[in-house]
Amino acid sequence: MRTDTPQAIRLSDYRPPAFLIDEVALTFDLHPTATRVTARLQVRRNREHSEPLRFNGERLKPISVAIDGRVLSDGERTIDDEGLTIPSAPDAFVLETEVEIDPENNKALEGLYMSGGRFCTQCEAEGFRKITFWPDRPDVLSRFTVRVEADRSFRHLLSNGNLIEQGELEGGRHYAVWNDPFLKPSYLFALVAGELDVLEDSLVTMTGRTVELKIFVDPGMAPRAAYAMDALKRSMRWDEEAFGREYDLDLFMIVAVRDFNFGAMENKGLNIFNSSLLLADPATATDADFERIESVVAHEYFHNWTGDRITCRDWFQLCLKEGLTVFRDQSFSADMRGHAVQRIKDVKALRARQFAEDQGPLAHPVRPSSYLKIDNFYTATIYEKGAEIIRMLKILLGAEAFRAGMDLYFERWDGHATTVEAFIKCFEEASGSDLSHFFAWYEQAGTPRVSLESQYDEAAKTLTLNFAQETPPTPGQPVKQALPIPIAFGLLDGEGRPLRFEHDGEPQDETVIVLDQPQASITLTGVDRFPVISALRGFSAPVVLTTDLEPKDKYVLLAADPDLFNRWEAGQELARDLILRRAAGSPDEVNEERYADALGRALSDQSADPAFKALMLALPSEPDLALVMSPADPQAIHEARDALRTRLSVHLESQLRELHNGLQDLGEFSPDAEGAGRRALRNAALDLLLANPRSDNAAYAHGHFEAAGNMTDAMAGLSALMQVGGEAFGQALADFYERWTSEPLVIDKWFAVQARDPSETAIGRVMGLTAHPAFDTKNPNRLRALVSTFANFNPARFHDPSGAGYRFLADQILAVDRFNPMIAARLVDPLGGWRRYKPELGALMRAELERIAATAGLSKNVYELATRALA
Ligand code: ARG
Ligand code: ZN
Repeated sequence: MRTDTPQAIRLSDYRPPAFLIDEVALTFDLHPTATRVTARLQVRRNREHSEPLRFNGERLKPISVAIDGRVLSDGERTIDDEGLTIPSAPDAFVLETEVEIDPENNKALEGLYMSGGRFCTQCEAEGFRKITFWPDRPDVLSRFTVRVEADRSFRHLLSNGNLIEQGELEGGRHYAVWNDPFLKPSYLFALVAGELDVLEDSLVTMTGRTVELKIFVDPGMAPRAAYAMDALKRSMRWDEEAFGREYDLDLFMIVAVRDFNFGAMENKGLNIFNSSLLLADPATATDADFERIESVVAHEYFHNWTGDRITCRDWFQLCLKEGLTVFRDQSFSADMRGHAVQRIKDVKALRARQFAEDQGPLAHPVRPSSYLKIDNFYTATIYEKGAEIIRMLKILLGAEAFRAGMDLYFERWDGHATTVEAFIKCFEEASGSDLSHFFAWYEQAGTPRVSLESQYDEAAKTLTLNFAQETPPTPGQPVKQALPIPIAFGLLDGEGRPLRFEHDGEPQDETVIVLDQPQASITLTGVDRFPVISALRGFSAPVVLTTDLEPKDKYVLLAADPDLFNRWEAGQELARDLILRRAAGSPDEVNEERYADALGRALSDQSADPAFKALMLALPSEPDLALVMSPADPQAIHEARDALRTRLSVHLESQLRELHNGLQDLGEFSPDAEGAGRRALRNAALDLLLANPRSDNAAYAHGHFEAAGNMTDAMAGLSALMQVGGEAFGQALADFYERWTSEPLVIDKWFAVQARDPSETAIGRVMGLTAHPAFDTKNPNRLRALVSTFANFNPARFHDPSGAGYRFLADQILAVDRFNPMIAARLVDPLGGWRRYKPELGALMRAELERIAATAGLSKNVYELATRALA
């Protein structure tokens, strides 16, 4: 156990910075194991005070510290593990520091490190302090000039902003000087140096300026950046059209690196990406990869305004940039790929990750009030629930007032670091509405439960809707208040025809009410026929809704709801109830038949989008089901879900084969929504067909795998063969490995598919794979492909009653924590939900968490999550 309990950082303790830095000139003398960083800072005391100067600095080997040209003696400054202190500093001065760092041996991948023989950086949230002494907090905004020197073999020398000078030096070295004219905090600093290939393009902005676009990748990979470039250009155009935001520099660069702790990073003018979220071509990337790339390229680009031009005052305001930017990238993806399909995918992800987080010991508000390590708060709650809040704001205010609020925000806060309060105030002013009650969405953790009961009065033609809301307690927040919840709804009649009604005297097809009390009742008039209620259309709020709808009503919605989200939702709810009945040992065979028929009809609807049908065909996932079963029994869920899938497969066999045969790619591969939708439906049909792994179906899957002309189809074939198992799967894996050995991103998929295998023998195989020559714990993508995939997407095996799955994960966490605490901490989550599982399993999970928490020398990151999970 740690003896020095780390100190929590609190929002209520926020104080403006004691010193500001108006300008900085950095010089990097790059060398893999001994890089010299010289910093020349124009420092100024912020208002009147007599506090000492205290700058962050970690793992820096100090060479010298000087003020206004005079080197300070040991007595005039102290340097410890956390930084530099100068007890008495002047009010305005030049601080010059020189330090040495070791990028080669930086395996935490934070600060300046090496990936594939190239230098790169990751500074958000607190990595800059591993580069130089600095007040490493987002409210210190400075103008950066950066000089980079290196051996000529590091051909490209990149940093933020504009290239203002470059040239040759003695001894085979060269240099480049970059200047970023925009104020920025240290977390947006970036530097890259190395031999790279570049894909170049340009775009003329809305005011007619030409912006050069460059994407830098590993040598030979430039063609695989073409899709990212296309996505970038579409993002730039979209931000002009949707938000009036124009790009501000003459150059925009993206660099892809192989070793990266997360997805990507929005450094000003120089985004750095995990190569898995940038490189794609049809042969090596799936449609899901293309889709992710499009959305992450957009996300990072959109940060240029929501993140870079306007940043966060402190890290408690993280959702200010992340929730808003996710909302923006989701809106972009919806425009690119279809609103209903995008919404369903976004809600699936929200439920799987954020709702799960809210139900466990790590639940926290979208704006938390304390933390030990901010890196632990890059969560689904901050990102995805943060985006839902913005979405509700738009629903509540209407599109026009929402846009006016955004315009005001950009105008008022450009060039500043600000808060969520200041953001919301812009919407209050622009719309004239009082949003004080709405603010609770940021401060209250937990997923509200909303119930809806209805009474129809046939004689009076009135429909009364009784709503109630309640938010369950979360750690540190035992008592909850009612939130303003926008609920969009409409009515259908028993035949599935839209049914009009009157609300507040106005005839309507659909309306939005705001439930802002614990209970509310509304009466609709002019309801001519018995209604079926379609509530929470488009998932208008991030809540769990329960209604008194009967299965027959849900079948009406499944067949005919004009709101496609609710059409999909009705199918999911019906399937969920059938699976839970099976898991409880009492299958409802009559309704299973009925469900299979309804699904068959949905599939034969010629007017429906194939991408939508593919989503209809997928049953709720095992982790989703575990959230609604109490206590959760992952083995029972797995078996029950499989059994229903097998029934559906048998029932729909001829239709599934027809779909599969009819949807083959005819022309050339196109990664767009239409082509991807067709492949998604075809592969979903194959997947369900193989739930019945009879030998002819197995042969069918084998044929699909062999004939695959792109990675999407190859992976679908491999997953289908996984359901067959045995020799068929083993041989396919071996062939696949041999074909793709030299493609790291494809080998990641090879590890991941084996990690997802739910068969009994799979756990041994997964453990064995950690000894495979291609396994590398130091590469986050490879580690995630095997370990995270196993723990998050293979519940039947992770929750093996022997506890072997839990032990395996805990061993990995402890091993990785020694060199990469951020990545180790991200692996803790699957153990966090231990209270929700059957007591036998929960006890085993808990024991592993205790073992982790009791380990000597644990990082703050893992310590915080393990202890919170146990509390
Ligand atoms: N700002 C980056 C993004 O949203 C993610 C940075 C993650 N950093 C971290 N310490 N977890 O794209
Ligand atoms: Zn972001």
